[in-house]
Order: sequence, then structure tokens, then C-alpha cells
Amino acid sequence: MSNWKKRLAAWAMAVTVLGLAAASQRPERGEGLEALGGAKLPAGPYVALTFDDGPRASTTSALLDGLAQRGVHATFFVIGENVEGNELLLQRMEGEGHQIGLHTYHHKSLDKLNAAGFYEEVDSLRATLTALLGREDFMLRPPYGMMNAATQARAAAPIVLWSVDPEDWSDRDTPRQVATITQAAQDGDIILLHDIYPASVDTALEVVDTLMARGFHFVTVEELFAIRGRTPENGTVYRRLPPSD
Ligand code: NI
Repeated sequence: MSNWKKRLAAWAMAVTVLGLAAASQRPERGEGLEALGGAKLPAGPYVALTFDDGPRASTTSALLDGLAQRGVHATFFVIGENVEGNELLLQRMEGEGHQIGLHTYHHKSLDKLNAAGFYEEVDSLRATLTALLGREDFMLRPPYGMMNAATQARAAAPIVLWSVDPEDWSDRDTPRQVATITQAAQDGDIILLHDIYPASVDTALEVVDTLMARGFHFVTVEELFAIRGRTPENGTVYRRLPPSD
């Protein structure tokens, strides 16, 4: 069984538990859940909040606090140079059940890199995260969503884009961003935000409150794969994971 498959099996169990347990009792991912096999998943809808370009100590910490209060897991595609000095924050993310992924070391456009450049930007970040977190199966989000066939061949990771983008960097306008996301969100969507802006943190938490009130469940990208019964493939591009496609 591949590492992905083992972890996805564990997460499928975790998601099952999430649907049955109160938020305060949510387990950390993959922990001791085997006894609960056979339980039924909540019907959904499910969405994944994803955050690029961090971490940033002030805003990312505030976001983690708000997500913890709500019992919600998200996915963070981090930049290597921002990990430096924020190692404890990364360990907090991991420990609280969030997913961490690659967004290059210096926010470089992957379609413009040769093999050596790709190594410096992606493989070096993977090595940094492996040293910090003790594993190496991190999904990849290319900066600007830019990539080419060489990127896909070199990725050694599933490539995760997005299906809902409020362009939060453009105006820092929380009410507009919340409206954009909550009007667009559908089962299986992957929502793009940036945890380096205070307004985006406010947006994320308001979106969670609004959509949870409408019955949505918030999961990591990995959990979304598990819920859909799909195995992420290295080099394949994913934008959303609807119930069937
Ligand atoms: Ni970015």
C-alpha cells in the first residue's frame, strides 16, 4: 500500500469521526480511529479552505486560533522563506490537524524553471518540511497556478489548484470576499485565500460560520480525496473534487 493510500484510509476514518463527534472532541488526523470503521459519512457538502503564501506569524496564528475554535481543518501551501523563523507555527499547524503543502521556496513561477531551479524551489522546500515534520508526501500548489508539462513531470506530488478564487489580495475587502465565496461554494470546491492578510483571516472565519450554518463541512484537501474515495496521483492537476466527475 502506498503512503498516500495508508494516510487516506486513516483520514477517511478521521472524517467519519468528524461527522459524529462534537467539534471539541475532534481527533487529530489519523489518530487511533481504526475502531470506528463502518460508520457513515455525513452527506456533505464538503469544501476545502486553502491558504497560500504564508506562514506569517501574526495573521496565521490568528487564523489557527479561529479555526481551532470552530473545529475546522484547512490546508496551507507555504513558502520556504516564510517557514524560516516560523517553525513552531508549522508544527502547531501539523499538530492541530491541518494539511501543509508546497508553494515553492521563493514564490517562483514553476513554468520558468529548469531542473536545477525546480530542485531549489520545490525539492528544497520539501526537504525543509521533511526535516521539520518527519514526512515527505506534501502536495504542491504552483505559484500563480503557472506550470507546464515539465512541472508536472518533476512534481513528485499531486498538483492542487482551486475552483473558488475571491482574489483576496486585490482589495482586502472582507464583506465582498465573503459574498463571493459563499455565493459560489459548491460540494467539492477548493477555495483559495492567503493567510498573510488580516482581512483574509476575517474572510475565512466568516465563510466558515456562514457555510457551516448552511450545512457545509470544512476538510483538508487530503480529507476531500478520502471522502471522494480517490487517490491523489503525482503530477496530476486537481481543481475541485465534486461528488462524481
Ligand atoms: Ni502564491
